Amino acid sequence: MRTLTVELQDRSYPIFIGPGLLQNIRLIQPYLKGPQAILITNDTVSQWYLKPTLNALKQLDLKQVDIHIIADGEQHKTLETFEQIQSALLKKGHHRNTTLIALGGGVTGDITGFAAACYQRGVNFIQIPTTLLAQVDSSVGGKTGVNHPLGKNMIGAFHQPTCVLIDTLALRTLPQRELAAGTAEIIKYGLIYSESFFIWLEENIEKLIALDPETVTEAIEQSCAIKAEIVGQDEQEQGLRAILNLGHTFGHAIETGLGFGQWLHGEAVALGLLMACDLSERIGWLDNSIGKRLKHLLQTLTLPTTLPKNLSTEQILSLMKLDKKVLNDSIRLVLLRSLGHAVVTEDFLTDQLIKTLNTFTTPTTLSS
Ligand code: NAD
Ligand code: GLY
Repeated sequence: MRTLTVELQDRSYPIFIGPGLLQNIRLIQPYLKGPQAILITNDTVSQWYLKPTLNALKQLDLKQVDIHIIADGEQHKTLETFEQIQSALLKKGHHRNTTLIALGGGVTGDITGFAAACYQRGVNFIQIPTTLLAQVDSSVGGKTGVNHPLGKNMIGAFHQPTCVLIDTLALRTLPQRELAAGTAEIIKYGLIYSESFFIWLEENIEKLIALDPETVTEAIEQSCAIKAEIVGQDEQEQGLRAILNLGHTFGHAIETGLGFGQWLHGEAVALGLLMACDLSERIGWLDNSIGKRLKHLLQTLTLPTTLPKNLSTEQILSLMKLDKKVLNDSIRLVLLRSLGHAVVTEDFLTDQLIKTLNTFTTPTTLSS
């Protein structure tokens, strides 16, 4: 097992990573607050992991363990699902020292965290992420929330978990498409923060997607370490943390434009990464070999490298204006100064951005 820490003074917390950790659930005992807990999962994950998790939870010093199952899918990351969780907590008499345990992907983790942030003005929560995306990204850092029909993740709160338990064996039941989508967020870390990690990914991508145990653990650890370092420096995204959103302004616009749940979040981010590289190259910051290398990686993963036909440049551009980084009506984007070095900037012309978007509405000009 490998252990990392997100350093946030009195709210610091551990990330435990390893195979079979669901069976080693005693690790979370010190991070419960009282004798009550509620396990929140969805109707897909529950088929695989509800019984083993409930059995494992018996090892803990808990008097009341409730279960709340939410509907599966990004389209259910809503205030309605959030409210159902609040109702379950109230009906089952949960007190301020209860613990919400999120078992599932990023959707479950984000809603559960937001429910915990709001229930009685804030209660304890623990993340047990079961998708690759959640294991490398969404379970760490305390961004929680739900979507609004007009915009992705527009309603939410910063609320840190007290512990993250990552069982890498859970990835064995994950569909290949989800695995590839999660890998997009791993590639993001190389692009924004570590050239050597990007090169390692280029060398190990086949082993990673085949779930070679050592490679998977290494990729998760490296990703979480980068995320923990950034969150430790800028918990509430006053500056540096925004670089974690490389490709996301494009990606969120694609997700919102298509309707939540059409493309996976990681798929939209994958294309967003390519667009961010294209614009960084277009304004003369980035060597144009990087976009080609990225495209090659994405193609190996069969991730999208062009926009769907039913989304126009105009639609994307107007949806990009809804992004949380927009200040005084100008779009701010995370772009790459070089491989491993990202910045938030307004230093591009709208014409250049439009040219980038146009590049991806027809087969991309970046050759592989
Ligand atoms: P998801 O939660 O929808 O999970 C993907 C699919 O995999 C679902 O159908 C789920 O039921 C299924 N699943 C989960 N674990 C499984 C397993 N072990 N075996 C089989 N099936 C399994 O999606 P996701 O990709 O995990 O997360 C995407 C969400 O995360 C988006 O809403 C995104 O906005 C959010 N996100 C949040 C942050 C953050 O910092 N909070 C960061 C990145 C993404
Ligand atoms: N996924 C972006 C962040 O956590 O800040």
